[in-house]
Amino acid sequence: MTIGEVVAQHYRTAEVFSRNGIDFCCGGKKTLGKACSEHQLDWADLSAELGRAIDAPEMPSQQTDRWEPDFLAEYIVQTHHRYLRENLPLLLDYTAKIAKVHGGRHPELLLVAKQVQILSTELLEHLDKEEQVLFPYVARLCAARRHGGQTPATTFGTVANPIGMMENEHDYAGALLDNIRDLTSDFSLPADACATYRVAFAKLRELDQDLRWHVHLENNVLFPKTMLLEQMLRQSN
Ligand SMILES: [Fe+2]
Ligand SMILES: [Fe+2]
Repeated sequence: MTIGEVVAQHYRTAEVFSRNGIDFCCGGKKTLGKACSEHQLDWADLSAELGRAIDAPEMPSQQTDRWEPDFLAEYIVQTHHRYLRENLPLLLDYTAKIAKVHGGRHPELLLVAKQVQILSTELLEHLDKEEQVLFPYVARLCAARRHGGQTPATTFGTVANPIGMMENEHDYAGALLDNIRDLTSDFSLPADACATYRVAFAKLRELDQDLRWHVHLENNVLFPKTMLLEQMLRQSN
């Protein structure tokens, strides 16, 4: 099984992967065995930890892999896209401020501010592409299935094309997040951190978690379901 499939079926396992430094969103296509050997983890330990997470009670209402693709896309827009649009400007402001005030003693903050700038620009363009091109097509595919219609016409050939582009952009955003984590030693605060410094790092950690879950929902749940749905419709038309 791949890591993405495990998290899609049992969302509580995301925590286990995060704890062990395993990327479950962009790296979600890897098998469990490969992740274990890459991170030098003991297979028995990891599977026991995953087993405990899987056995913990889950809320059936949160099993996103059972949601309709158009509903999942709309949910992502209303929660994760809205979060980014509201919080990226704040993060730009906080990281620029701490770079200016503390950049002398902590030069890595200048690099963090730069990475956040690039991330913000890239992500805002990325959200627009999903909301204007890919997600409306997901909605049309779902409508065609429900009402027995034809596979909707596209300007991009098969949906695998825009999905491939979105996955590449996710990889890039994931790499920027990794850089920010490394530069801040996992968001560790120095002894002389002021209030803004604390808020900035807390927000960065929050963004990191939110974005990783957001990418997981797209890469490992929404995109495979959408490709399958398009395939089924094309075969039946
Ligand atoms: Fe998205
Ligand atoms: Fe995305």
